[in-house]
Amino acid sequence: MPQAQIGVYGLGTMGSALALNMAEKGFEVAVTNRETEWIADFVSEAGALQTRLHPHESLERFVEDIKPPRVILFMIPSGAPMDAVIATISPLLDEGDTIIDGGNADFHDTRRRSAALTEKGLHFVGMGVSGGEKGARHGPSMMVGGTDHSWTQLSDILRAIAARHDGDPCVDHLGPDGAGHFVKTVHNGIEYADMQVIAELYSLLRNGAAWPPAEIGKLFAEWDKGPLKSYLVEITGTLLQYADPETGHPMVDVIKDAAGQKGTGRWTVVEAVRMGQAANMIEAAVGARSWSSEKETRQAAQERLGDGRAALDLNAAVLADAFLAARVLCYAQGFRILAAASDEYDWSLDFARIAEIWREGCIIRSALLDDIAQAFRGDLPRGQLILSPTFSELLGRTIPALREVVAASVAGGHAVPALAAALGWYDTMRQGFGSANIIQAQRDFFGYHGFERLGREGKHHGPWWD
Ligand code: 6PG
Repeated sequence: MPQAQIGVYGLGTMGSALALNMAEKGFEVAVTNRETEWIADFVSEAGALQTRLHPHESLERFVEDIKPPRVILFMIPSGAPMDAVIATISPLLDEGDTIIDGGNADFHDTRRRSAALTEKGLHFVGMGVSGGEKGARHGPSMMVGGTDHSWTQLSDILRAIAARHDGDPCVDHLGPDGAGHFVKTVHNGIEYADMQVIAELYSLLRNGAAWPPAEIGKLFAEWDKGPLKSYLVEITGTLLQYADPETGHPMVDVIKDAAGQKGTGRWTVVEAVRMGQAANMIEAAVGARSWSSEKETRQAAQERLGDGRAALDLNAAVLADAFLAARVLCYAQGFRILAAASDEYDWSLDFARIAEIWREGCIIRSALLDDIAQAFRGDLPRGQLILSPTFSELLGRTIPALREVVAASVAGGHAVPALAAALGWYDTMRQGFGSANIIQAQRDFFGYHGFERLGREGKHHGPWWD
Protein backbone atom coordinates (compact mmCIF):
# COMPACT_ATOMS: atom_id res chain seq x y z
CA MET A 1 0.00 0.00 0.00
CA PRO A 2 1.40 3.42 -0.90
CA GLN A 3 2.05 5.51 2.17
CA ALA A 4 3.66 8.73 1.06
CA GLN A 5 1.83 11.95 0.16
CA ILE A 6 4.75 13.23 -1.89
CA GLY A 7 8.08 11.98 -3.22
CA VAL A 8 11.33 13.96 -3.14
CA TYR A 9 14.01 12.92 -5.64
CA GLY A 10 17.40 14.52 -5.01
CA LEU A 11 18.82 14.75 -1.50
CA GLY A 12 21.36 17.51 -2.02
CA THR A 13 21.20 20.63 0.13
CA MET A 14 17.86 21.94 -1.11
CA GLY A 15 16.10 18.59 -1.60
CA SER A 16 17.06 17.36 1.89
CA ALA A 17 15.94 20.61 3.49
CA LEU A 18 12.57 20.57 1.70
CA ALA A 19 11.97 16.88 2.55
CA LEU A 20 12.69 17.57 6.25
CA ASN A 21 10.46 20.65 6.18
CA MET A 22 7.60 18.53 4.77
CA ALA A 23 8.14 15.76 7.32
CA GLU A 24 8.18 18.31 10.12
CA LYS A 25 4.82 19.66 8.95
CA GLY A 26 3.36 16.15 9.27
CA PHE A 27 3.56 14.86 5.70
CA GLU A 28 4.70 11.35 4.77
CA VAL A 29 7.57 11.77 2.32
CA ALA A 30 9.11 9.12 0.06
CA VAL A 31 12.76 9.98 -0.63
CA THR A 32 15.39 8.79 -3.06
CA ASN A 33 18.61 9.93 -4.67
CA ARG A 34 20.62 9.02 -7.75
CA GLU A 35 23.64 8.22 -5.56
CA THR A 36 21.84 5.69 -3.37
CA GLU A 37 24.55 5.73 -0.69
CA TRP A 38 23.40 9.24 0.36
CA ILE A 39 19.94 8.00 1.32
CA ALA A 40 20.75 6.16 4.57
CA ASP A 41 22.93 9.02 5.84
CA PHE A 42 20.18 11.54 5.13
CA VAL A 43 17.59 9.47 6.99
CA SER A 44 19.82 8.74 9.96
CA GLU A 45 20.57 12.45 10.38
CA ALA A 46 16.85 13.31 10.31
CA GLY A 47 16.37 12.44 14.00
CA ALA A 48 12.74 12.24 15.10
CA LEU A 49 11.55 13.13 11.58
CA GLN A 50 12.74 9.72 10.34
CA THR A 51 9.35 8.20 11.08
CA ARG A 52 7.77 10.23 8.25
CA LEU A 53 10.55 9.60 5.74
CA HIS A 54 10.24 6.59 3.43
CA PRO A 55 13.67 5.88 1.92
CA HIS A 56 13.93 3.91 -1.33
CA GLU A 57 16.94 2.86 -3.35
CA SER A 58 14.81 1.54 -6.20
CA LEU A 59 12.98 4.07 -8.38
CA GLU A 60 10.14 1.58 -8.91
CA ARG A 61 9.59 1.15 -5.13
CA PHE A 62 9.85 4.91 -4.66
CA VAL A 63 7.09 5.51 -7.21
CA GLU A 64 4.92 2.68 -5.84
CA ASP A 65 5.13 4.17 -2.36
CA ILE A 66 3.50 7.47 -3.40
CA LYS A 67 -0.29 7.72 -3.25
CA PRO A 68 -1.84 8.37 -6.69
CA PRO A 69 -2.34 10.73 -8.32
CA ARG A 70 1.33 11.14 -7.44
CA VAL A 71 3.33 14.25 -6.79
CA ILE A 72 7.11 14.00 -7.14
CA LEU A 73 9.45 16.90 -6.46
CA PHE A 74 12.81 16.83 -8.23
CA MET A 75 15.62 18.84 -6.69
CA ILE A 76 18.45 18.10 -9.11
CA PRO A 77 20.74 20.18 -11.34
CA SER A 78 18.74 21.86 -14.09
CA GLY A 79 19.30 21.13 -17.78
CA ALA A 80 20.20 17.70 -19.17
CA PRO A 81 19.85 15.81 -15.81
CA MET A 82 16.19 16.86 -15.63
CA ASP A 83 15.47 15.57 -19.15
CA ALA A 84 17.24 12.31 -18.32
CA VAL A 85 15.28 11.72 -15.15
CA ILE A 86 11.96 12.57 -16.83
CA ALA A 87 12.73 9.96 -19.49
CA THR A 88 13.48 7.36 -16.80
CA ILE A 89 10.57 8.00 -14.49
CA SER A 90 7.68 8.82 -16.84
CA PRO A 91 7.10 5.17 -17.93
CA LEU A 92 6.54 4.35 -14.24
CA LEU A 93 3.90 7.05 -13.76
CA ASP A 94 0.16 7.11 -14.40
CA GLU A 95 -2.16 9.65 -15.93
CA GLY A 96 -2.75 12.56 -13.56
CA ASP A 97 0.63 12.27 -11.82
CA THR A 98 2.69 15.44 -11.43
CA ILE A 99 6.43 15.94 -11.79
CA ILE A 100 7.78 19.12 -10.17
CA ASP A 101 11.10 20.68 -11.10
CA GLY A 102 12.14 22.79 -8.10
CA GLY A 103 15.47 23.90 -9.57
CA ASN A 104 16.41 27.16 -11.27
CA ALA A 105 15.43 25.99 -14.75
CA ASP A 106 15.20 28.01 -17.94
CA PHE A 107 11.45 28.58 -18.41
CA HIS A 108 11.73 27.70 -22.12
CA ASP A 109 12.78 24.19 -21.03
CA THR A 110 9.86 24.11 -18.61
CA ARG A 111 7.41 25.00 -21.37
CA ARG A 112 8.90 22.34 -23.63
CA ARG A 113 8.75 19.68 -20.90
CA SER A 114 5.19 20.63 -19.94
CA ALA A 115 4.04 20.23 -23.53
CA ALA A 116 5.79 16.88 -23.95
CA LEU A 117 4.42 15.45 -20.69
CA THR A 118 0.88 16.72 -21.36
CA GLU A 119 0.83 14.44 -24.40
CA LYS A 120 1.47 11.51 -22.06
CA GLY A 121 -1.29 12.54 -19.64
CA LEU A 122 1.27 13.69 -17.08
CA HIS A 123 1.59 17.12 -15.47
CA PHE A 124 4.77 19.12 -15.14
CA VAL A 125 5.26 21.95 -12.67
CA GLY A 126 8.15 24.39 -12.85
CA MET A 127 8.52 25.76 -9.35
CA GLY A 128 10.90 28.50 -8.28
CA VAL A 129 12.16 27.98 -4.75
CA SER A 130 13.92 30.86 -3.05
CA GLY A 131 15.60 31.26 0.30
CA GLY A 132 18.64 29.01 0.18
CA GLU A 133 19.07 26.05 2.51
CA LYS A 134 17.65 27.78 5.60
CA GLY A 135 14.62 28.91 3.64
CA ALA A 136 14.02 25.43 2.23
CA ARG A 137 14.26 23.90 5.70
CA HIS A 138 12.18 26.44 7.62
CA GLY A 139 10.10 28.35 5.09
CA PRO A 140 10.94 29.17 1.47
CA SER A 141 9.08 31.44 -0.92
CA MET A 142 7.78 29.34 -3.82
CA MET A 143 6.65 30.45 -7.27
CA VAL A 144 4.53 27.74 -8.82
CA GLY A 145 3.67 27.19 -12.49
CA GLY A 146 1.81 24.31 -14.14
CA THR A 147 -1.80 23.20 -14.28
CA ASP A 148 -4.70 23.81 -11.89
CA HIS A 149 -4.84 20.02 -11.40
CA SER A 150 -1.26 20.01 -10.07
CA TRP A 151 -1.88 23.02 -7.85
CA THR A 152 -4.86 21.24 -6.30
CA GLN A 153 -2.61 18.26 -5.58
CA LEU A 154 0.20 20.37 -4.21
CA SER A 155 -1.22 23.39 -2.49
CA ASP A 156 -1.76 21.92 1.01
CA ILE A 157 1.83 20.71 1.26
CA LEU A 158 3.35 23.88 -0.20
CA ARG A 159 1.25 26.19 1.96
CA ALA A 160 2.31 24.21 5.03
CA ILE A 161 6.04 24.43 4.33
CA ALA A 162 6.19 28.01 2.99
CA ALA A 163 7.46 31.10 4.77
CA ARG A 164 4.66 33.25 6.17
CA HIS A 165 3.97 36.96 6.16
CA ASP A 166 1.39 37.82 8.84
CA GLY A 167 0.12 34.24 8.49
CA ASP A 168 -0.13 34.38 4.68
CA PRO A 169 1.94 31.58 3.07
CA CYS A 170 4.54 32.89 0.62
CA VAL A 171 3.56 30.54 -2.17
CA ASP A 172 1.03 30.62 -4.99
CA HIS A 173 0.08 29.23 -8.35
CA LEU A 174 1.19 32.05 -10.63
CA GLY A 175 0.23 30.71 -14.03
CA PRO A 176 0.52 27.78 -16.43
CA ASP A 177 3.63 26.02 -17.84
CA GLY A 178 6.76 28.17 -17.37
CA ALA A 179 5.22 31.01 -15.31
CA GLY A 180 6.68 29.86 -11.99
CA HIS A 181 10.20 29.44 -13.32
CA PHE A 182 10.01 32.73 -15.20
CA VAL A 183 8.96 34.64 -12.08
CA LYS A 184 11.86 32.97 -10.20
CA THR A 185 14.25 33.99 -12.99
CA VAL A 186 13.17 37.63 -12.69
CA HIS A 187 13.39 37.33 -8.89
CA ASN A 188 17.02 36.40 -9.41
CA GLY A 189 17.55 39.26 -11.84
CA ILE A 190 16.30 41.66 -9.17
CA GLU A 191 18.53 39.82 -6.67
CA TYR A 192 21.56 40.44 -8.91
CA ALA A 193 20.81 44.17 -9.24
CA ASP A 194 20.10 44.67 -5.53
CA MET A 195 23.35 42.88 -4.65
CA GLN A 196 25.27 45.03 -7.13
CA VAL A 197 23.79 48.26 -5.73
CA ILE A 198 24.82 47.15 -2.24
CA ALA A 199 28.34 46.33 -3.48
CA GLU A 200 28.61 49.76 -5.14
CA LEU A 201 27.50 51.59 -1.98
CA TYR A 202 30.00 49.54 0.05
CA SER A 203 32.77 50.42 -2.39
CA LEU A 204 31.97 54.15 -2.26
CA LEU A 205 32.20 54.11 1.53
CA ARG A 206 35.29 51.91 1.57
CA ASN A 207 37.28 53.34 -1.31
CA GLY A 208 35.86 56.85 -1.45
CA ALA A 209 35.50 57.65 2.24
CA ALA A 210 37.90 55.11 3.80
CA TRP A 211 35.34 53.58 6.14
CA PRO A 212 36.48 50.27 7.67
CA PRO A 213 34.27 47.31 6.65
CA ALA A 214 32.95 46.80 10.19
CA GLU A 215 31.72 50.42 10.28
CA ILE A 216 30.02 49.96 6.93
CA GLY A 217 28.47 46.80 8.38
CA LYS A 218 27.07 48.82 11.27
CA LEU A 219 25.58 51.34 8.83
CA PHE A 220 23.87 48.49 6.94
CA ALA A 221 22.59 47.11 10.26
CA GLU A 222 21.13 50.57 10.96
CA TRP A 223 19.54 50.70 7.49
CA ASP A 224 18.00 47.31 8.21
CA LYS A 225 15.79 48.97 10.84
CA GLY A 226 14.07 51.36 8.42
CA PRO A 227 12.60 51.47 4.91
CA LEU A 228 15.70 49.73 3.50
CA LYS A 229 15.06 46.69 5.70
CA SER A 230 15.74 43.56 3.69
CA TYR A 231 17.43 40.20 3.85
CA LEU A 232 20.34 41.30 1.64
CA VAL A 233 20.95 44.44 3.74
CA GLU A 234 20.77 42.34 6.90
CA ILE A 235 23.30 39.73 5.77
CA THR A 236 25.65 42.36 4.31
CA GLY A 237 25.57 44.21 7.65
CA THR A 238 26.47 40.99 9.41
CA LEU A 239 29.13 39.64 7.06
CA LEU A 240 30.99 42.96 6.93
CA GLN A 241 31.61 42.71 10.66
CA TYR A 242 33.41 39.36 10.44
CA ALA A 243 37.21 39.11 10.70
CA ASP A 244 39.24 36.37 9.02
CA PRO A 245 40.16 33.90 11.81
CA GLU A 246 43.52 33.25 10.09
CA THR A 247 44.80 36.78 9.50
CA GLY A 248 42.55 38.97 11.63
CA HIS A 249 41.83 41.12 8.55
CA PRO A 250 38.23 42.01 7.69
CA MET A 251 36.85 38.83 6.12
CA VAL A 252 35.73 40.68 2.97
CA ASP A 253 39.34 41.77 2.37
CA VAL A 254 40.53 38.19 1.88
CA ILE A 255 37.75 37.23 -0.56
CA LYS A 256 38.73 37.46 -4.24
CA ASP A 257 36.76 40.16 -6.06
CA ALA A 258 35.51 37.84 -8.82
CA ALA A 259 31.84 36.86 -8.67
CA GLY A 260 30.29 33.68 -10.00
CA GLN A 261 26.95 33.37 -11.76
CA LYS A 262 24.89 30.37 -12.72
CA GLY A 263 22.74 32.00 -15.38
CA THR A 264 19.43 33.25 -14.02
CA GLY A 265 20.55 36.91 -14.06
CA ARG A 266 21.72 36.54 -17.64
CA TRP A 267 18.46 34.84 -18.64
CA THR A 268 16.51 37.75 -17.17
CA VAL A 269 18.48 40.21 -19.29
CA VAL A 270 18.24 38.10 -22.44
CA GLU A 271 14.48 37.63 -22.07
CA ALA A 272 13.98 41.31 -21.24
CA VAL A 273 15.86 42.42 -24.34
CA ARG A 274 14.06 39.85 -26.48
CA MET A 275 10.70 41.28 -25.35
CA GLY A 276 11.81 44.90 -25.86
CA GLN A 277 12.11 45.53 -22.13
CA ALA A 278 15.72 46.49 -21.46
CA ALA A 279 16.28 46.20 -17.72
CA ASN A 280 19.48 48.20 -17.53
CA MET A 281 20.07 47.79 -13.78
CA ILE A 282 19.96 44.02 -14.08
CA GLU A 283 22.11 44.17 -17.19
CA ALA A 284 24.61 46.34 -15.28
CA ALA A 285 24.69 43.78 -12.47
CA VAL A 286 25.24 40.85 -14.83
CA GLY A 287 27.90 42.83 -16.68
CA ALA A 288 29.64 43.81 -13.46
CA ARG A 289 29.88 40.14 -12.47
CA SER A 290 31.36 39.31 -15.85
CA TRP A 291 33.92 42.14 -15.59
CA SER A 292 34.72 41.05 -12.04
CA SER A 293 35.93 37.71 -13.34
CA GLU A 294 38.50 39.48 -15.56
CA LYS A 295 40.78 40.03 -12.59
CA GLU A 296 44.07 39.86 -14.48
CA THR A 297 42.96 42.34 -17.11
CA ARG A 298 41.73 44.72 -14.42
CA GLN A 299 45.03 44.48 -12.57
CA ALA A 300 46.98 45.18 -15.77
CA ALA A 301 44.66 48.09 -16.59
CA GLN A 302 45.08 49.56 -13.13
CA GLU A 303 48.84 49.62 -13.66
CA ARG A 304 48.55 51.15 -17.11
CA LEU A 305 45.62 53.52 -16.62
CA GLY A 306 45.84 54.28 -12.91
CA ASP A 307 43.21 53.61 -10.23
CA GLY A 308 42.06 57.22 -10.37
CA ARG A 309 39.49 57.18 -7.58
CA ALA A 310 39.16 60.44 -5.69
CA ALA A 311 38.19 60.81 -2.04
CA LEU A 312 34.46 61.38 -1.61
CA ASP A 313 32.60 63.38 0.97
CA LEU A 314 29.70 61.03 1.64
CA ASN A 315 26.67 61.54 3.81
CA ALA A 316 25.07 58.33 5.11
CA ALA A 317 21.53 59.76 4.95
CA VAL A 318 22.02 60.76 1.29
CA LEU A 319 23.39 57.29 0.50
CA ALA A 320 20.35 55.71 2.16
CA ASP A 321 17.95 57.75 0.02
CA ALA A 322 19.97 56.96 -3.10
CA PHE A 323 19.75 53.27 -2.23
CA LEU A 324 16.00 53.49 -1.68
CA ALA A 325 15.46 55.18 -5.05
CA ALA A 326 17.65 52.59 -6.80
CA ARG A 327 15.86 49.72 -5.11
CA VAL A 328 12.43 50.98 -6.18
CA LEU A 329 13.67 51.36 -9.76
CA CYS A 330 15.13 47.86 -9.63
CA TYR A 331 11.82 46.29 -8.59
CA ALA A 332 10.08 48.48 -11.17
CA GLN A 333 12.30 47.07 -13.92
CA GLY A 334 11.66 43.51 -12.73
CA PHE A 335 7.88 43.94 -12.79
CA ARG A 336 8.02 45.45 -16.29
CA ILE A 337 9.69 42.27 -17.52
CA LEU A 338 7.00 40.21 -15.79
CA ALA A 339 4.31 42.33 -17.45
CA ALA A 340 5.87 41.82 -20.88
CA ALA A 341 6.13 38.04 -20.39
CA SER A 342 2.60 37.83 -19.02
CA ASP A 343 1.34 39.44 -22.24
CA GLU A 344 3.55 37.36 -24.52
CA TYR A 345 2.70 34.00 -22.97
CA ASP A 346 -0.84 34.85 -21.86
CA TRP A 347 -0.09 34.05 -18.21
CA SER A 348 -2.29 36.72 -16.56
CA LEU A 349 0.31 37.20 -13.84
CA ASP A 350 -0.99 38.80 -10.65
CA PHE A 351 1.77 41.31 -9.83
CA ALA A 352 0.37 42.11 -6.38
CA ARG A 353 0.36 38.44 -5.47
CA ILE A 354 3.92 38.02 -6.72
CA ALA A 355 5.02 40.94 -4.51
CA GLU A 356 3.14 39.34 -1.61
CA ILE A 357 4.83 35.97 -1.91
CA TRP A 358 8.21 37.73 -2.04
CA ARG A 359 7.60 39.42 1.32
CA GLU A 360 9.12 36.55 3.31
CA GLY A 361 11.34 33.55 2.67
CA CYS A 362 13.07 34.68 -0.52
CA ILE A 363 16.41 36.40 -1.06
CA ILE A 364 14.89 39.71 -2.25
CA ARG A 365 12.43 40.01 0.63
CA SER A 366 12.30 43.60 1.80
CA ALA A 367 10.13 46.12 3.59
CA LEU A 368 9.20 47.67 0.22
CA LEU A 369 7.33 44.63 -1.06
CA ASP A 370 4.24 45.20 1.06
CA ASP A 371 3.89 48.71 -0.42
CA ILE A 372 4.57 47.31 -3.89
CA ALA A 373 1.79 44.76 -3.45
CA GLN A 374 -0.58 47.52 -2.34
CA ALA A 375 0.41 49.67 -5.30
CA PHE A 376 -0.46 46.83 -7.69
CA ARG A 377 -3.75 46.24 -5.89
CA GLY A 378 -4.57 49.89 -6.61
CA ASP A 379 -5.33 51.55 -9.92
CA LEU A 380 -1.94 51.12 -11.58
CA PRO A 381 -1.23 50.69 -15.30
CA ARG A 382 0.02 47.14 -15.65
CA GLY A 383 3.51 46.57 -14.30
CA GLN A 384 4.39 50.30 -14.18
CA LEU A 385 5.41 50.83 -10.58
CA ILE A 386 6.93 54.26 -11.26
CA LEU A 387 3.41 55.57 -11.98
CA SER A 388 1.97 54.61 -8.60
CA PRO A 389 1.19 57.57 -6.31
CA THR A 390 3.19 56.01 -3.45
CA PHE A 391 6.29 55.32 -5.50
CA SER A 392 6.25 58.46 -7.61
CA GLU A 393 6.15 60.42 -4.35
CA LEU A 394 8.99 58.32 -2.92
CA LEU A 395 11.06 58.77 -6.08
CA GLY A 396 10.42 62.52 -6.09
CA ARG A 397 11.83 62.64 -2.57
CA THR A 398 14.85 60.32 -3.05
CA ILE A 399 16.02 60.89 -6.64
CA PRO A 400 17.98 64.05 -5.70
CA ALA A 401 20.08 61.85 -3.41
CA LEU A 402 20.64 59.27 -6.15
CA ARG A 403 21.63 62.08 -8.50
CA GLU A 404 24.05 63.50 -5.92
CA VAL A 405 25.67 60.11 -5.29
CA VAL A 406 25.97 59.18 -8.98
CA ALA A 407 27.32 62.65 -9.87
CA ALA A 408 29.95 62.54 -7.12
CA SER A 409 30.91 58.97 -8.06
CA VAL A 410 31.24 59.73 -11.75
CA ALA A 411 33.23 62.92 -11.08
CA GLY A 412 35.46 61.02 -8.64
CA GLY A 413 36.15 58.06 -10.94
CA HIS A 414 34.17 55.49 -8.93
CA ALA A 415 32.39 52.76 -10.88
CA VAL A 416 28.67 52.69 -10.10
CA PRO A 417 27.16 50.92 -13.12
CA ALA A 418 23.91 49.85 -11.44
CA LEU A 419 23.27 53.16 -9.65
CA ALA A 420 24.01 55.11 -12.83
CA ALA A 421 21.76 52.75 -14.82
CA ALA A 422 18.92 53.41 -12.37
CA LEU A 423 19.24 57.14 -12.87
CA GLY A 424 19.57 56.82 -16.65
CA TRP A 425 16.38 54.81 -16.81
CA TYR A 426 14.49 57.15 -14.47
CA ASP A 427 15.52 60.24 -16.43
CA THR A 428 14.59 58.57 -19.71
CA MET A 429 11.19 57.41 -18.54
CA ARG A 430 10.07 60.79 -17.23
CA GLN A 431 10.62 62.53 -20.58
CA GLY A 432 7.32 62.64 -22.44
CA PHE A 433 9.30 63.76 -25.49
CA GLY A 434 12.67 62.03 -25.63
CA SER A 435 15.44 61.88 -28.22
CA ALA A 436 14.31 58.98 -30.42
CA ASN A 437 13.08 61.48 -33.04
CA ILE A 438 16.77 61.85 -33.92
CA ILE A 439 17.18 58.07 -34.23
CA GLN A 440 14.17 57.95 -36.53
CA ALA A 441 15.48 60.80 -38.65
CA GLN A 442 18.86 59.05 -38.97
CA ARG A 443 17.21 55.72 -39.88
CA ASP A 444 15.13 57.40 -42.52
CA PHE A 445 18.11 59.42 -43.81
CA PHE A 446 20.40 56.45 -44.32
CA GLY A 447 17.91 53.68 -45.02
CA TYR A 448 14.57 55.19 -46.10
CA HIS A 449 13.00 53.43 -43.09
CA GLY A 450 10.30 56.06 -42.64
CA PHE A 451 8.95 57.55 -39.43
CA GLU A 452 5.65 58.38 -37.77
CA ARG A 453 4.95 62.12 -37.98
CA LEU A 454 3.34 63.78 -34.98
CA GLY A 455 -0.35 64.46 -35.54
CA ARG A 456 -0.57 62.58 -38.87
CA GLU A 457 -1.34 59.00 -39.77
CA GLY A 458 0.92 56.78 -41.84
CA LYS A 459 4.58 56.46 -42.66
CA HIS A 460 6.57 59.52 -43.67
CA HIS A 461 9.97 60.41 -45.08
CA GLY A 462 12.13 63.46 -44.52
CA PRO A 463 12.81 66.23 -47.08
CA TRP A 464 16.30 64.74 -47.44
CA TRP A 465 14.72 62.30 -49.91
CA ASP A 466 13.06 65.02 -52.07
C1 6PG B 1 17.40 32.05 -4.17
C2 6PG B 1 18.68 32.24 -4.92
C3 6PG B 1 19.21 30.91 -5.34
C4 6PG B 1 20.65 30.93 -5.75
C5 6PG B 1 20.88 31.50 -7.10
C6 6PG B 1 22.06 32.41 -7.18
O1 6PG B 1 16.44 32.68 -4.56
O2 6PG B 1 17.39 31.31 -3.19
O3 6PG B 1 18.50 33.05 -6.03
O4 6PG B 1 18.34 30.39 -6.31
O5 6PG B 1 21.40 31.59 -4.82
O6 6PG B 1 21.12 30.40 -7.92
O7 6PG B 1 22.48 32.46 -8.47
P1 6PG B 1 23.94 32.77 -8.91
O8 6PG B 1 24.78 31.58 -8.54
O9 6PG B 1 23.83 32.97 -10.35
O10 6PG B 1 24.40 33.98 -8.15
